[in-house]
Amino acid sequence: MHPDYPVRTERLILRPFTPGDVDDLHAYRSRADVARYLYSGPSASRQATSEEPSRRTGETRLVNEGDRLWLAVLLAESGALVGDVLLRYTSAVHRQGEIAFVFNPSCHGRGLATEAARAMLRLAFAEMGLHRVIGRCDARNGASARLMERLGMAREAHFIENEFVKGEWTGKFVYAIREQQWSGEGRTPVAGVAGRRQAR
Ligand SMILES: CC(C)(COP(=O)(O)OP(=O)(O)OC[C@H]1O[C@@H](n2cnc3c(N)ncnc32)[C@H](O)[C@@H]1OP(=O)(O)O)[C@@H](O)C(=O)NCCC(=O)NCCS
Repeated sequence: MHPDYPVRTERLILRPFTPGDVDDLHAYRSRADVARYLYSGPSASRQATSEEPSRRTGETRLVNEGDRLWLAVLLAESGALVGDVLLRYTSAVHRQGEIAFVFNPSCHGRGLATEAARAMLRLAFAEMGLHRVIGRCDARNGASARLMERLGMAREAHFIENEFVKGEWTGKFVYAIREQQWSGEGRTPVAGVAGRRQAR
């Protein structure tokens, strides 16, 4: 699956990162509050952030198991880069994927991350034909958990102190949604996506 970029939603544009995005990416990836519940970060320097887009240039299509789609999210109105979203192709045999999202706090609380994540689910189900998509978050990450619930994902698991991250034991929520549960978003194909599958 190779989207015909940019992917558009009502308020957003999703497209692959470019080297010119480094300052906007660094603006939020360097923040301790943004990295609080992530495995890595905050980014220690602009130099460290600048290596991300070049290291991940291939993350624009999903072909083989393990491939990842990593996209910058921009406001359609102004072109400002407000966050990034990820869709990982975790299993070809089982048609499984995983989504993730990180947004600049200056743009939190407007439903923008939900809108971008919904677009990724459309790609996963309508374009990629996946059967099930999961999302994982630290069990203390209420904003992330609420976002996945807004997407119609169900909390399937709550692991207790299953990981030791950044010097402390952390719990984990696993959310998931299957193609049958997906709420009809796919009836309108994502604008700008080539090779569309017939959506239900
Ligand atoms: C997780 C994260 C992306 C969520 O961001 P967010 O701004 O809360 O999410 P949304 O953009 O979907 O906004 C939803 C909020 O806006 C409100 N909202 C306002 N207008 C809205 C609209 N049109 N549609 C949906 N929600 C809207 C919702 O009520 C909701 O508020 P609530 O969380 O208090 O209930 C953000 O907290 C983040 O980047 N965190 C740091 C990185 C991180 O932890 N990522 C997750 C890793 S698992």
